[in-house]
Amino acid sequence: MKIAVIGTGYVGLVTGTCFADSGNDVTCVDIDQEKIAALQRGEIPVFEPGLSELVLRNADIGRLHFTTDLPAAVQPARLVYLAVGTPPSEDGSADLSALWKVVESIAPHLTDDAIVVTKSTVPVGTNTAIYGRLRELTGREVDVASNPEFLKEGAAIDDFMKPDRVVVGVRRPEVGRVLHELYAPFLRTEKPFLVMSPESAELTKYVANALLSTKISFINEMANLCEAVGGDINDVRRGIGHDSRIGFAFLFPGVGYGGSCFPKDVRALAAVARERDIEPQILKAVDDVNRRQKLVMQSKLERHFKDGLRGKTIAIWGLAFKPRTDDIREAPALTLIDRLLELGSTIQVHDPEAMNNVRKEYGDRLTYAETPLDALDGADALAIMTEWSEFRNPDFDAMKRRMRKPTIFDGRNLYQLEQMKSLGFSYHSIGRASV
Ligand SMILES: NC(=O)c1ccc[n+]([C@@H]2O[C@H](COP(=O)([O-])OP(=O)(O)OC[C@H]3O[C@@H](n4cnc5c(N)ncnc54)[C@H](O)[C@@H]3O)[C@@H](O)[C@H]2O)c1
Repeated sequence: MKIAVIGTGYVGLVTGTCFADSGNDVTCVDIDQEKIAALQRGEIPVFEPGLSELVLRNADIGRLHFTTDLPAAVQPARLVYLAVGTPPSEDGSADLSALWKVVESIAPHLTDDAIVVTKSTVPVGTNTAIYGRLRELTGREVDVASNPEFLKEGAAIDDFMKPDRVVVGVRRPEVGRVLHELYAPFLRTEKPFLVMSPESAELTKYVANALLSTKISFINEMANLCEAVGGDINDVRRGIGHDSRIGFAFLFPGVGYGGSCFPKDVRALAAVARERDIEPQILKAVDDVNRRQKLVMQSKLERHFKDGLRGKTIAIWGLAFKPRTDDIREAPALTLIDRLLELGSTIQVHDPEAMNNVRKEYGDRLTYAETPLDALDGADALAIMTEWSEFRNPDFDAMKRRMRKPTIFDGRNLYQLEQMKSLGFSYHSIGRASV
């Protein structure tokens, strides 16, 4: 099948590449000329394990193309995938301006049997609005399907190639059949292909992210309670997780969720509810708890350093919003960095993949260390903000030698309390006693 994917970010690039890999002829379009030029040279603009090899292989075979020429990509395409960003507006609702621009631009170039598919996360009702607008622009009924994406950055290729399920929202069963054919190579393990209305498909994506965010905010609130009453959230987590009705997934306490999806999707779903006069009480609480949790590390640091943080050197391990990605959108580490800069601390950071993105935002206000140990030189404390696996078994003796004071604020509960105590660290984690 000939496919155009409009928007070549994390989702568009992964989607286009995986469809090309299963034998389709895919053209990825973006307005960012630098990004497209880099992709044409074989350079991948984001860090995503396995993506680079897959892009290069499919581009070499001639099944994957990159262009800024939208008409040329859309004219021959049977499927036109919309994968542009839908960032939050001031009031929390999804900003659909990029999406609408694309809808206007593709309209004159769609073939008679073209199917437009929204891959971007969009509020319920957007599919119908696109359908209406394309009818005005083209004078005919253009099929518009919704196909929300559930991939996780850091495991995006695997998630796309072996999805837990594929959800499509369609008006006509024929459109569902075309999309089923497209997805058949990815569903060999009998995973479900779920066909529903566009409205249900649009909602499914938000509801999934809202529930996952709820679990994180819930366990964070319980972790804070554990700390206050002398419990240990790790024990409590084990205590509940073995209950098959509860399980362990998404119940790790930490420094709050970040990234390009959870924060914005929780707020956008709340905005949709408010527009319908439904007070989104749970969603509001989830968002409030998360905003507070993103401040938990600075509060711990401020409580610890009674003489203030001005002039203190703080090392930070982990800048990306989670491991195995270079994405720093809404990353908790940035909230901490902003506060420490305000308070006059010196900040030395290390992240295996996200330092370039952070450098673009903070320039020389931070010191960028090549290795985790280099970040510790002369540090009064280390704050761990992302659970990269290379932070799990560090050389603690070398760490102590490098630091001015052996003090760790671990926002991801990577280490055992007993071990930290016996090594002589002052160790502060989430939902557990300080040692
Ligand atoms: N990142 C994720 O993990 C993830 C997962 C599931 C769903 N989503 C959703 O997928 C959508 C895309 O997310 P993303 O993370 O890939 O965003 P992104 O910001 O990485 O990429 C969006 C791309 O769209 C391009 N673009 C903007 N306007 C354009 C236009 N008029 N024409 C062509 N290209 C244009 C941008 O230049 C950019 O490259 C969002 O709705 C997001 O909520 C994201």
